[in-house]
Amino acid sequence: MTPPAGKIVRVDLDETAARLGVPVEDVERVHRLAGERPSAPLPAKADAPAILDRLAVPPDDAAEIMAGWPDPGSPLWTPELRWLLDRSIALVRADLGGHDWLPPGPELPRGRGPAWRHLYVYAYLALLDVVTGYHRDHGITDAVSWATLADLGRNLAVDRRMHGEGWPVMQSWLTLHARGAVYELGRLQYQRGETAIGLHIPETGPMTPQAIEESLDEARAFFPRHFPGERHTAFSCGSWLLDPQLLEYLPEDSNIIRFQRRFELEPYQEPEGLDADVEVLRFVFRTLSTPLDQLPRRTALQRAIIDHLKTGRHWYWRRGHFPI
Ligand SMILES: CC(C)(COP(=O)(O)OP(=O)(O)OC[C@H]1O[C@@H](n2cnc3c(N)ncnc32)[C@H](O)[C@@H]1OP(=O)(O)O)[C@@H](O)C(=O)NCCC(=O)NCCS
Repeated sequence: MTPPAGKIVRVDLDETAARLGVPVEDVERVHRLAGERPSAPLPAKADAPAILDRLAVPPDDAAEIMAGWPDPGSPLWTPELRWLLDRSIALVRADLGGHDWLPPGPELPRGRGPAWRHLYVYAYLALLDVVTGYHRDHGITDAVSWATLADLGRNLAVDRRMHGEGWPVMQSWLTLHARGAVYELGRLQYQRGETAIGLHIPETGPMTPQAIEESLDEARAFFPRHFPGERHTAFSCGSWLLDPQLLEYLPEDSNIIRFQRRFELEPYQEPEGLDADVEVLRFVFRTLSTPLDQLPRRTALQRAIIDHLKTGRHWYWRRGHFPI
């Protein structure tokens, strides 16, 4: 007797999850959110080196991405990987224009080769045409589009420094870029929201007050011009950078303290699924697993982070805002 159609799908999802080495709930989520929605093709392989260059992808990563390219018939790409790539693209594409956190799929065992390692990079490449089309519909210049999208290369470089520890967060972070939610305008990145525009601080050198002010001015003009239907009244930020305990360690005229002073802090709320002690190590030391005694103590901030944790105290992820 033929089992009901629902049953067949269920068995496939179990098998797919087992072959991918991930929890079945994660595969069910992809199946549910992507459904039969349209995917998008990757760029032509011949164009990929120039595109990766434009996306600031470092040579080591570019070489791996080219080596693992999902050519038809490539033995690196099992049916499960091809299914996940196709449905992950569809899942992210279905939320084009959305601005909430959106994992593109399960965390994969990335040590199994370049297809596994870079599956969500291929999804990002497939979405380039879709998102640049969205940018064009909003009158956004090519310069802003590509400055924004080149965060891919920066993230791959950081992940390499972190020996792969950084990627699980990055694969979700980068779906914001691929959905037209994040824009890089000068020193800062901006995430569209309901009433506030979220600020993000990429690692691109010191955040001088002048660079911040120029960037904020750019954003003040950018969002009303390109998203006239959205009403933003505040800039907001959630970060380890807003922890007032940093005042105990850093000089008043440091960039971080001057950045803090722009914000009205919101009452502390424990962020869901986020340990600020770990996040500080991620952003300041680019490691999540090195023992405190082995971390470098070259700068005032590094010494502050280590000494604070060694006395048994904690860092806090704080949220704040200020009017646009
Ligand atoms: C946010 C950031 C740009 C601030 O750098 P900055 O403008 O140099 O900051 P400050 O002027 O306040 O620096 C004060 C001290 O801390 C040090 N410092 C700042 N950021 C540092 C970092 N990420 N790693 C090591 N030391 C750092 C500075 O060198 C300085 O110490 P010194 O006087 O001994 O040289 C920088 O920390 C950074 O790039 N972080 C990674 C991205 C990030 O954290 N984003 C927010 C995610 S929520």
